[in-house]
Amino acid sequence: MKPIKVGILGLGTVGGGTVNVLTRNAAEIARRAGRDIVITRASAKDLAKPRICNTEGITLTNDPMDIINDPEIDIVLELIGGAGAVKDMVLTAIANGKHVVTANKSLIALHGNEIFAKASEKGVIVAFEAAVAGGIPIIKAIREGLSGNQIQWLAGIINGTGNFILTEMRDKGRDFADVLAEAQALGYAEADPTFDVEGIDAAHKLTILASIAFGIPLQFEKVYTEGITQITRTDVEYAEQLGYRIKHLGIARKTAEGIELRVHPTLIPERRLIANVNGVMNAVLVKGDAVGPSLYYGAGAGAEPTASAVVADVIDVVRALTSDPENRVPHLAFQADALADIPVLAAERIKTAYYLRLNAEDKPGVLADVTRILASHNISIEAIIQKEPLKGETAVPIILLTQITLEQEMNAAIVAIEALSTVSGKVCRIRLETLG
Ligand code: NDP
Ligand code: HSE
Repeated sequence: MKPIKVGILGLGTVGGGTVNVLTRNAAEIARRAGRDIVITRASAKDLAKPRICNTEGITLTNDPMDIINDPEIDIVLELIGGAGAVKDMVLTAIANGKHVVTANKSLIALHGNEIFAKASEKGVIVAFEAAVAGGIPIIKAIREGLSGNQIQWLAGIINGTGNFILTEMRDKGRDFADVLAEAQALGYAEADPTFDVEGIDAAHKLTILASIAFGIPLQFEKVYTEGITQITRTDVEYAEQLGYRIKHLGIARKTAEGIELRVHPTLIPERRLIANVNGVMNAVLVKGDAVGPSLYYGAGAGAEPTASAVVADVIDVVRALTSDPENRVPHLAFQADALADIPVLAAERIKTAYYLRLNAEDKPGVLADVTRILASHNISIEAIIQKEPLKGETAVPIILLTQITLEQEMNAAIVAIEALSTVSGKVCRIRLETLG
């Protein structure tokens, strides 16, 4: 059978890793796909740059359109990143009748609805396994492996850079900026690393996971997003003393009122497996009504782990070439005309438990004032601890864990607590999930 011809846009971390895996495992891949898969063309911005892969035998160009417009190319791998010019490249590739494999979560989260509609019109596949959780086949697991379930919720550590930073800070006491620089050098971070540390990258990924879990259109703009830059060592230590770890989670939960979509630092009981996912590793915990909870774990970033997902998509595309488009696995797991219009809840309507830390004067009545405010907002306290004053300070840190409450009530309670003359500074609030 005629070999399948692949053109790669981008020869950086993921593109280079993909060339290496496709080349090294070519024989094994051909046995799986049923025919040879050959990289004939690739593009990069600066052709003089040293590469992590051997490009011998591949025709190189610095213009991605050379590949997109080449009638010989069957599958275009978009491994450049960003959601600007790349969107036009992908739409042109689709218009040219090419299948597309991408690792680009921002592209899919922001423009996936349009891209999938155009791909369906043309009868081509847009595959994006590598866009979420690096090498973990989480898209396939939810879209196919769990397709008999009603998904109730999912929670994941879905940014490798962020988890690497939190782990190094906690375990080795390293500096935030120093660890971020290492993550960049290792090729884990996004071109703009604020996407990693401010939770935007995780929000892109959560958008995709929520769509395939609940059968809703992609709605990135509705994700509540908080990053990891405000997490302090003090809170990490207090959380540990209470039996919790702080992890940066993406959470999607279907409730009777609508869907919660949120990315934020979260206290998780330390006994949970997901609380022990460290370094660049990612994990996604999915709760289905039939299967119960299931956990998916693996490398969340890096050249070859991500290439593993890209190559699996290429093989899937090749296998699907002989099937009618209407018999293929739908892009967003549910048939395109069966996507549901379930509302995504505003942040104030999220329900969760909380860790609160505040600094208060060490005198009678202060704790009573705080607990009175919480009670007036129907917030029940699970635990309360008063610590010794921090070195050189007179105010004492008070740590509270609450039961599940409405975010709107918590917002109002925090405003009232911060207004107390006996409380100084801001109240630190971190959400808490038991993930039971
Ligand atoms: P890199 O920055 O390492 O590579 C990007 C590549 O695109 C480079 O080869 C660059 O060329 C090329 N490029 C950039 N702009 C253009 C342009 N205008 N025209 C042609 N080529 C261009 O990025 P990554 O490999 O890390 O990421 C690629 C994609 O994969 C992104 O969407 C990212 O979010 C996603 N991803 C990344 C993971 C990771 O671990 N790094 C994991 C999962 C997904 P040159 O090399 O000459 O500069
Ligand atoms: N920057 C991303 C991360 C790459 O660190 O998770 C993988 O999507």
